[in-house]
Formats: sequence, C-alpha cells, structure tokens
Amino acid sequence: LVVEDGGGVHYLKRIPIDFAKLESLFVASWGRPKPGYDAVLARSFTWVAALHGDDLVGFVNVAWDGGVHFFLLDASVHPAWTRQGIGRRLIATAIEECRGRGEWLHVDASEELMSGFYRRLGLKPSPAGLIDLTR
Ligand SMILES: CC(C)(COP(=O)(O)OP(=O)(O)OC[C@H]1O[C@@H](n2cnc3c(N)ncnc32)[C@H](O)[C@@H]1OP(=O)(O)O)[C@@H](O)C(=O)NCCC(=O)NCCS
Repeated sequence: LVVEDGGGVHYLKRIPIDFAKLESLFVASWGRPKPGYDAVLARSFTWVAALHGDDLVGFVNVAWDGGVHFFLLDASVHPAWTRQGIGRRLIATAIEECRGRGEWLHVDASEELMSGFYRRLGLKPSPAGLIDLTR
C-alpha cells in the first residue's frame, strides 16, 4: 500500500532500499553514516521510506524481538524536509504496521523529542534502562 500525503511524498513499507541513498540521508540527519544497514534490515520487522520522486527524504526502521516487542530506530527526515509532517506520517505508518501484531512499541529519544514529537504520536515517556556498551 502506498500512501501519498498530498505534498508529493509517498510512504512505502518494506520497499527495497538503495543503501547509497539511505547513507546520504543518515549523514544529512545524523552527521554520520550507519554502516552495515543491509544486515540490520535483514532482521527488521518492517521499515518505512518516505520518497519524493526518487529522493529518499525520510526513513524509520522497526526492529522486533520476534514476539511482542517492537522498537523504533533511526527515524530520519532530511533536514531540508523537516517540520512538514513527514516524520509524523513515517511513525504513524510504522505504528499501524505493528498494531495487532504485538504488545509494546518502544523508542529512545531526547526529552525534547519525547515531549514535542513522540508524545503526540501516542508514545508515552517511561522509565527505561540503557548502557553504552562502547565505553
Ligand atoms: C525528529 C525528526 C524525525 C522529526 O521529523 P519531522 O518530519 O521534522 O517531524 P514532523 O514535521 O512530523 O513534526 C511533527 C511535530 O513534532 C514536533 N517536533 C518535530 N521536530 C521536533 C523537534 N526537533 N523538537 C521538538 N518537537 C519537534 C512538532 O510539534 C511538530 O509539529 P510542528 O512542526 O507543527 O510544530 C527529524 O527532525 C530528524 O530526522 N531529526 C534528526 C534525527 C533524529 O534525531 N531522529 C529521532 C531519533 S529518536
């Protein structure tokens, strides 16, 4: 199913990803690439791409434990396209994909994004534990 938002951006689930385009999006959104993403997607529950023509303007990955937990990861909207509702539609599409298929959808985010972005999408802040394994 392809959803179009009226602004010429299409939201597509589980489409084959052009990894060069995804890397460019990650560099633009996060300031760095995320190497090995083909292996990441091989284990994903789903992912949603926002396309304007051939341009990848947004992306979100949904990881899965194989049971009842889903995890939103790497939500990205190209800086030239932010604050136009693309992120909201990406996450809303991901939520709809998970609904009915498990029990919990998790996300880690800054307090600013938690209260300004995710909360509006129905994700409530919760205590969570986290350890940086690279240190
Ligand atoms: C976070 C991100 C995905 C949001 O995408 P976006 O397309 O700009 O989001 P939307 O336009 O759908 O925003 C919807 C609402 O969320 C809120 N919001 C969006 N970005 C926000 C921010 N940086 N801080 C606080 N609130 C924000 C606003 O209320 C916004 O509505 P408004 O524009 O009418 O005020 C995008 O800014 C991004 O890729 N950032 C860099 C990577 C990142 O931090 N990803 C999140 C990982 S948890």
